[in-house]
Amino acid sequence: MIDRIRALPKAELHLHIEGTLEPELAFELARRNGVQLPFATVEALARAYEFSDLQSFLNLYYQCMSVLRKPADFADLADAYLQRAARDGVRHVEMFFDPQAHTSRGVPLDDVVAGLREAVQAAPARHGVSAALIACFVRDRPVAEAMHTLEGLAAHLDVIKGVGLDSAEVGNPPGAFREVFAAAEQLGLRKVAHAGEEGPPAYVWEALDVLGVERVDHGIRAAEDQSLLRRLATDRVPLTVCPLSNVRLHCVESLADHPLPRLLEAGVLVTLNSDDPAYFGGYVADNYLAVARELALDLDTLAVLARNSLLASFTDLELVAEAAEQPA
Ligand code: ADE
Ligand code: ZN
Repeated sequence: MIDRIRALPKAELHLHIEGTLEPELAFELARRNGVQLPFATVEALARAYEFSDLQSFLNLYYQCMSVLRKPADFADLADAYLQRAARDGVRHVEMFFDPQAHTSRGVPLDDVVAGLREAVQAAPARHGVSAALIACFVRDRPVAEAMHTLEGLAAHLDVIKGVGLDSAEVGNPPGAFREVFAAAEQLGLRKVAHAGEEGPPAYVWEALDVLGVERVDHGIRAAEDQSLLRRLATDRVPLTVCPLSNVRLHCVESLADHPLPRLLEAGVLVTLNSDDPAYFGGYVADNYLAVARELALDLDTLAVLARNSLLASFTDLELVAEAAEQPA
């Protein structure tokens, strides 16, 4: 089954590049940069990957990022992911990064983007994958800081295609970022936001109606609101769903309880993604395989999900046209 899944051309639309930092690379970069990680060994770090909720994950995620300091660190991280993604049949990636998680610890935004740019621009020739960046604002940091970050991003619009909103959701509704997203739109940037991961359906409505997002990241709690499901289906607003992440962060009790089948039944354009694969036990093909097994999805349904990912991407790729021609 995994080979058939890997053979499906697909896009990955919900992938935090900082969440692809495998323990081995974390230690290598720590050595390279003279940074001390609060874990003695790779194994001790890997054992810390037990999370009770989103915040408990974010604490470790931000801690591990301290090893990323130079453009080459970001380039190596992104290149390792792109190589890995190509093996899973990923043809196109819209890669999230968290500018403020780096600038807040003294790493210049231009250095972060320079490293990511190098990997992204080399990816078609090196790995047969096209890639673009989506800069996420950290929603539990001040709105003014997000606006300042946007000003810095404006110098890199050749490689940054969109803005997103991530980090601790509950208590940080999307509407606070209305002006930042409006300014991003003025710059021609595409708009997405995490909503309805841990937060209520009301946050998904707000992401749609106040921020005007074109895709919703996670959005699984939309399954609790029939009129929201109708809105997503009617307006063809894609959801970037990350099943293994949802289990690891206890957003759902188990894969068997995942709302994915209800979202599909409601006619929502669902895509499957890996979120932070180094932390959640699987890359994108592993997510496809896990839902196939636990939710009894057949290969035709997996092919629909893969095709959805191409249709939901922000890039007019030939492969999108190709995929659209294939019978779903
Ligand atoms: N940042 C990285 N992964 C995230 C997630 N699953 N939710 C919110 N913010 C994140
Ligand atoms: Zn995410």
